[in-house]
Formats: sequence, C-alpha cells, structure tokens
Amino acid sequence: MSEIETIENEALGAVAAASDLAALDAVRVAELGKKGRISGLMKTLGSMSPEERQTMGPALNGLRNRVQEAVEARKAELEEAELEKRLQTERIDMTLPPRAIPEGRLHPVMQVFEEVAAIFGDMGFTVAEGPDIEDDWHNFTALNFPEGHPARETHDTFFFHPQQGAAPKVLRTHTSPVQVRVMETQKPPIRILVPGRVYRNDWDATHTPMFHQVEGLVIDKAIHMGHLKGCLIDFVKEFFEVANVEARFRPHFFPFTEPSAEMDVKYRKVGESIEIGEGDSWMEILGSGMVHPNVLSNCGIDPDEYQGFAFGMGIDRLAMLKYGMPDLRPYFEADAGWTRHYGFRPWLSPSVAGGLS
Ligand code: DAH
Repeated sequence: MSEIETIENEALGAVAAASDLAALDAVRVAELGKKGRISGLMKTLGSMSPEERQTMGPALNGLRNRVQEAVEARKAELEEAELEKRLQTERIDMTLPPRAIPEGRLHPVMQVFEEVAAIFGDMGFTVAEGPDIEDDWHNFTALNFPEGHPARETHDTFFFHPQQGAAPKVLRTHTSPVQVRVMETQKPPIRILVPGRVYRNDWDATHTPMFHQVEGLVIDKAIHMGHLKGCLIDFVKEFFEVANVEARFRPHFFPFTEPSAEMDVKYRKVGESIEIGEGDSWMEILGSGMVHPNVLSNCGIDPDEYQGFAFGMGIDRLAMLKYGMPDLRPYFEADAGWTRHYGFRPWLSPSVAGGLS
C-alpha cells in the first residue's frame, strides 16, 4: 500500500470515528490545517522533480479533496444529529397546564366582547373589524350624515389636522363605519358583528374619551323589524342570563337607519345591585333600526332588492351593568388591584352552551 493510501485510510477512519463536532474539527486541523499532515505533503511538491510532481500532484490533490469531502459530509451528519438531540430534549408540551397560577386577568371589556361574540356567533354572525382612524366618508357621509348636519356635532369628534384640502381624518366616533366597509366589499347576505374602540371628546363618571362598542349588521332579501326585535331580545336574555326580558323599542333618530329605535329593558334595583329583565323601571341599552336605503346605495347595494337591520351598543356600560362596576374611569387606569378584583381568568372562554361567565 502506498504512503498516500495509508494516510487516506487513517484520515478517513479518524473522520468516521469523530463522535462530535469538536473531535471532527481536531481531525480536520491535524490533516488539512496549515500545519496538518496532508498540507505538509502538499508543500513537498515544490521541491520535487517535474516528473515526480506530475504523478504526485494529482495524487495529493485527490487525497486532499477526498478527505475534505469526508469531513464536510461527517460535519453535516453530526450537525443533523445534534439538532435532532436538541429537538428531543427541548420539546415543550403546549397542552400541559401552566406551573404557576396565572396572575394575568382578562379585562371585563374583553370578557364582554367574548360573551357578545359567543352569543351572536351562535346566531351565525361573524366578527368584522375596521380602522380606528377613519375618513369622513366612512364615519359620516356614507352613513347618511348630510354635510353640516347637526348630528355630526353631537359626536364630539376628535379631528386630525387636514391634509392638502382633503376632509380631515377622524378617530372613529362609532363602530358604524365598519358597516360601510363591509357592505362596500362583501355581497349580501351579510351578518356581521363589530367589536371595537371608539372615541369622543367626553370625560366624567360614565364617559371616557375612548370607549367600546359592538355593532351588528344583517343584510338579506326579506329582513324586517321582527328579525331585529327577536334577535336583540334573545341577545339580552342570553347576555344577562335571565329567562325573561321585558323590552320596548322606542322610536328614535339615527341618520343611518329608518325607522330607528332605542331598545329599553325593564330592571329593578335590589339593594346596591341591578336586576335586568323585569321590574319597575326602563333602561336604554342600545340603538338600532332598519338600514337606511341611502346607506345601502352609498355602499353599492340595491335597496329595492335588499334590506337589513343594524344595532350598536356601548360595551363598557353593559359590562358595568352585568358585573356591578360603579365607575367607568378605573377601566382604563391599569390598576392591578382593580383588574384582579373585576378581571376574568383568561383560560375560560365563554360559550352559550358552556356558560358565559
Ligand atoms: N352608531 C350609533 C352611536 O354610536 C349607535 C347605533 C345606533 C348603531 C343605531 C347602529 C344603529 O347600527 O342601527 O350612537
């Protein structure tokens, strides 16, 4: 066996025997490093006669290349094995319960969003969303608020600085613009629920400049006021978890619905708390109505073919009513004591069948 063959056998044997990346690198340095054995042989080429070099050159190059390839291949093998080992030992079972009792709490507003979505989800509504920064068209004009109409002023709108003669953008004053965005892009039948933040320049025990609404919209060929009433009465029963709800629909005005109605429900005071459903007083809980034909045509839907109903409600107040918070302002003060007291376990997701709260 020639010297070259002996060296090759030894080197390949050492490469195969290297059991980790460090051992392999030691073999590489010993054979192919600057002072390695094979590199040493390559250096002797310079002092050989041209004839000798002609046979030894290719032989040594071949030796070096084969050893180099063997090192690369073994390296890939060892890296793969190392990764496999890490994947095995660092595996996390996401289905295991957390070790510590979770400190975090779900804010009552988020809990109520979940509850409302669960109830309407059961009725076939899907959730839709839109941007907090709206343009005048979606927040007002498309919703049939005429230019200069006083209803625009009642919203205490936050305006952005206008840009190049365009109407100023606004922080949306209600979730109704999402009705427009959905109708502009989806064909009926439509059945959507829109939870979201809304903004008005207002601040006292029952008003904050940012608050939450849920909007609903149903568009189809034969929708009427009976559907609106049935749907909303069912909702209130499910939400307050009571068997009976006495409700009335009181005529009202919204530019985007005709006819429009505010929904009142009966309640009674029991000590400090309030029971919804029956009693001696009425409480207004939401606005609603049949979608105005102008709104349908503004969104490219033919009002002679389609009708629909819509509703909008303040979620913060619904949460106050259901869970007994007396003041709205602490909602947004990020006080951990308050959230621990009024917040919800994040792992329990509400469902109509499994229980809402
Ligand atoms: N956008 C109204 C508001 O913020 C609430 C509302 C009333 C929404 C009637 C509706 C509706 O969709 O039909 O005061």
